[in-house]
This record gives sequence, C-alpha cells and structure tokens, in this order.
Amino acid sequence: MNEKQQYHFTDPPPRAGTGSIKWDRYRDRDVLPMWVADMDFTSPPEVIEALHERVGHGIFGYTSPTDAAVRAVVDYMRTSHGIDIEPDWLLWTPGLVPALNTAARAYCEPGQSVLTTVPIYPPFLSAPRYQGRVLNFAPLANEQGRYRYDWSALERAITPQTRIFYMCNPHNPVGRVWTREELSKVIEFCKAHQLLLLSDEIHCDLILEQDITHHSILGADSWAHENSITLLSPSKTYNLCGLACSYVIIPDRSLRRNFHRAMRGLFNELNCLGYAACAAAYRGGETWRGQLLDVLRQNYKLVQEAIANDMPRFQLTPLEATYLAWIDTRGAANDRWSQIFEEHGVGLSNGSEFGTPGFLRFNFGTSTAQVREALDRMRQAYQSAGV
Ligand SMILES: Cc1ncc(COP(=O)(O)O)c(C=O)c1O
Repeated sequence: MNEKQQYHFTDPPPRAGTGSIKWDRYRDRDVLPMWVADMDFTSPPEVIEALHERVGHGIFGYTSPTDAAVRAVVDYMRTSHGIDIEPDWLLWTPGLVPALNTAARAYCEPGQSVLTTVPIYPPFLSAPRYQGRVLNFAPLANEQGRYRYDWSALERAITPQTRIFYMCNPHNPVGRVWTREELSKVIEFCKAHQLLLLSDEIHCDLILEQDITHHSILGADSWAHENSITLLSPSKTYNLCGLACSYVIIPDRSLRRNFHRAMRGLFNELNCLGYAACAAAYRGGETWRGQLLDVLRQNYKLVQEAIANDMPRFQLTPLEATYLAWIDTRGAANDRWSQIFEEHGVGLSNGSEFGTPGFLRFNFGTSTAQVREALDRMRQAYQSAGV
C-alpha cells in the first residue's frame, strides 16, 4: 500500500460488451444506468495485479479457501473493525444472495418465517419465499426522512412461527448505520422472541459520514456470538461483484453446521480468482478505499444540491453509508417517476422493488461527470413533468 498514490475515478472505461447487467439493461438506448448496486470504477490496481498473477499461474482447478484469503479476512476484521474471529468461523458463498437463501433453509422449517423490515434490498424479501419459507415484514419508521426501527410494528409483524430476523447494517436502501443503542434494541427484541439474527454488513466499509462508526453485530455481546450470523464480502467496496466471493461468519458451531448442511450440493467451490481478489483487496486496498469515499462524498453532495434546489418536492434521505441515494417522490404525487426519468435518459431503481412504492434509488457510484449528467437529465424531466 502506498499512502501517497493517487488513484483515478474520473474516466472509467466503457462497459459495453462486457456482459454488464447494469449497462446491458439499456443497451442501444441513451439511458444512463444509475440502478443496481455495482460501481463503474475499476478495482484497485493492487487487486488487478493479484488477479494477473493468479491468471499467470494458468491452472484453474477446484479451489478451497486459500490461506491468504482466510488470513486477510481475519486480519481485516481485527484491524478495520476491532473484532477477533477464528478462521473456522468462516463459510464462503458465491455471493451473499445465496447466503440469504441458505439461511432461510438452514434456520427455518417450511411454514416457519423470516422477519425483516421494509424498505429493504429485494433479496431479503425473495429469499424466504424462494425457499418455501414464510416472509413477515414491518415498515421502518420514517421521521422526516430519517429512518429508525418501529418496534411496535415489528411486534405486530412477528408470529409464533418466526425464527430469524434479517437485518441490514448499514442499511440498503435507506443508508442508515445503526447505532450501538439501536443494535442493543435489536438484540433485546431477538432475545425476547427467541429469534436468530442475520446481519448483512456488506456495506460496512462505505461509511460516508466522517463521525459515524459501523458497529458489527459480532462486537456486540456473547448472545450475539451464539445467536447471530454475519454476512460480508469485499465486493461492494472494491467493486468485485462479478467475482462472486463472499463469506458468512458464524461463531456458533451448531449454527455453522446447520448453515453448512443447508448449502450442501447447491454451490460448488468458489471461483479461484475471487479468493485472490478478496485477499488483495483487504491487504492492499485501503488507500484506494479512502479516495473512493472522497469521490462518493463529492457525488452525494451533487445529488443533495440537485434535489434540494431543483426537485424541491422530492425528499432525499440523509445518507450515512453506501453510494445509493434514497429519494422520496411522494411529495410530487405521480406514480410514474421511474418511467419519466427513464424516458429522459436516467435508469433508477424503483422503490416498489424494495417493498415501498413512491421512492427511487439513485446509484452515484460512478464518475462525477456521469452523476452530473444524470442529475441534469433528471432536472429537465422534473421540469417538464410540471410539478
Ligand atoms: C445488502 C446487500 N446484501 C447483499 C448484496 C449482494 O451481494 P452479492 O453480490 O454478494 O450476492 C447486496 C448488493 O447490492 C446488498 O446491497
């Protein structure tokens, strides 16, 4: 790692023809893709170099988690989050969506339920259903744009069949980083109802607010060690989603065994390149990450200014983490906003996918020039919609 090295986030290469899900949605149309949580930046050069080296070896046989990747995760948890984990607490999955699905199978019988809150990253809603389990959900409370848990709504949503609570921290899409006090309340709630806790912390290294700290559930208390599982991956921070390399930390042996059993036969060994990238990102990506956060803060400021000045009937949720801005459009009543923006050349995620119509999610993890262009197009669309 070179503290002085300057990385470049200004002119990412075009992604057409690379099979990019993000860009191919609008193939052959002049629509800027500002939707799925995938950034347009090239990964840290340290990661690319490690991948070249691994490719240079030339043999791509079945690969178990490499010592380098396991050690990198253990060291990363200690140095970045102050948490000591054991190497054998790690189970590797080809992405966290498979982990959300596996957890539903591992910890709920058919007919039993997963509880979560909305809005939420859509696979939290689909995983229980895909696995033939029941989904219960409660809305988060939205107090003038700032979200918090609504404990009475959660009490109403829970049933005697509920076995596990799915939490997202930091939260996609509302951008909250739950405080220590909020996490304690989550734990109290789970204890009172004898629920396991799943904590998806994939966005934890993308904190935008300088004076906010991520608190992992793993650092909470001994209850959390025995009753929770934590989902993590370097993929969001270092833009490695296509390498499908994620992991689940499960300190408790019997929870770990159940998870392992539920994934048997469903996933192969992970991609050997994923392990190489994971190790390199955690070992050598820190300076790059710091500079990425500066760019994201700058981009977010542009989004804030555009909404406040030029789309005043929208409300932007104050964002503490991630590169995903959550916009409340209900003040400019029109249920066609995502379509209107798409017709004006900006592709956003629609709030209904997250369980809450009337909202849009804007991915600003791209060059500042593209963020500016997308906001200009949105301004024009807003004006021509005559609100
Ligand atoms: C909260 C959350 N969990 C999981 C994922 C997906 O993870 P993966 O690509 O590892 O399946 C995302 C992607 O946006 C996410 O936001």
